[in-house]
Amino acid sequence: MNRPKIIINCAMSLDGKIASATGKQVRISSEEDMARVYQLRNKVDAVLVGINTVINDDPKLTVKERYVSCLNQPIRIVLDPQNKTPETALIVSDKAKTIIVVDENTTISKTYRENVTVLPFPTNNGVFNLRELGEKLCDLGITSLLVEGGGTVIWNFITNHLVDDLYVYVGSLIIGGKQTPTMAMGNGFKHSQDFIKLQHIDTKSVGDGLLLHYQLKK
Ligand SMILES: NC(=O)c1ccc[n+]([C@@H]2O[C@H](COP(=O)([O-])OP(=O)(O)OC[C@H]3O[C@@H](n4cnc5c(N)ncnc54)[C@H](OP(=O)(O)O)[C@@H]3O)[C@@H](O)[C@H]2O)c1
Repeated sequence: MNRPKIIINCAMSLDGKIASATGKQVRISSEEDMARVYQLRNKVDAVLVGINTVINDDPKLTVKERYVSCLNQPIRIVLDPQNKTPETALIVSDKAKTIIVVDENTTISKTYRENVTVLPFPTNNGVFNLRELGEKLCDLGITSLLVEGGGTVIWNFITNHLVDDLYVYVGSLIIGGKQTPTMAMGNGFKHSQDFIKLQHIDTKSVGDGLLLHYQLKK
């Protein structure tokens, strides 16, 4: 089955949290890491997030011109089976194209600008098959995809073995909290034979944090 090259990138605190204890966005990346993320976005055909990230953080997911020499705004993709993406969300601004992937049985209740495509896609009880979605994105000409979160989306990609490169920036801070979102949400695994095994590729100092690079163990 064809699929784009998939890169997962996220930033977490030293204690593995990706947001505040209330789920709100916090600045974890250093300025140097932000520059790296913009440069990574600039290299891919599309960036993808889940609907909770859109609702909680309202990200633009664009590339800031000052960080790159030749600007490429990737297509922004939201996994939004129930079409909850607000018409006023920054992710549907006219700064770049956006694809909102919705359950094919959902009634589309919102009207977006011309830069936005609503893509009806089959689900199994509201869950997209990400391998099939990857094939569809390939058909649309998307050859590289940067998955930026949140924890549920990252869990879904990793547990389907849909990742070529995993970058985790570990910021020099602790957020704490039992319920605070982490990089991989979902149900978790009870048995060690099910754990997703990774191969460590590289660690770099970036600003005052560490950038970890992993791939799936073959
Ligand atoms: N530090 C970082 O790098 C970073 C980056 C991004 C986000 N975040 C944080 O992450 C948190 C949000 O994470 P989250 O886990 O709550 O939500 P999320 O991953 O942003 O979105 C999850 C939602 O996306 C939809 N979805 C995901 N996979 C799907 C699939 N295979 N099929 C159908 N729908 C799918 C579902 O929507 P429905 O519920 O409508 O079914 C699901 O509930 C926020 O606190 C945000 O600040 C941190």
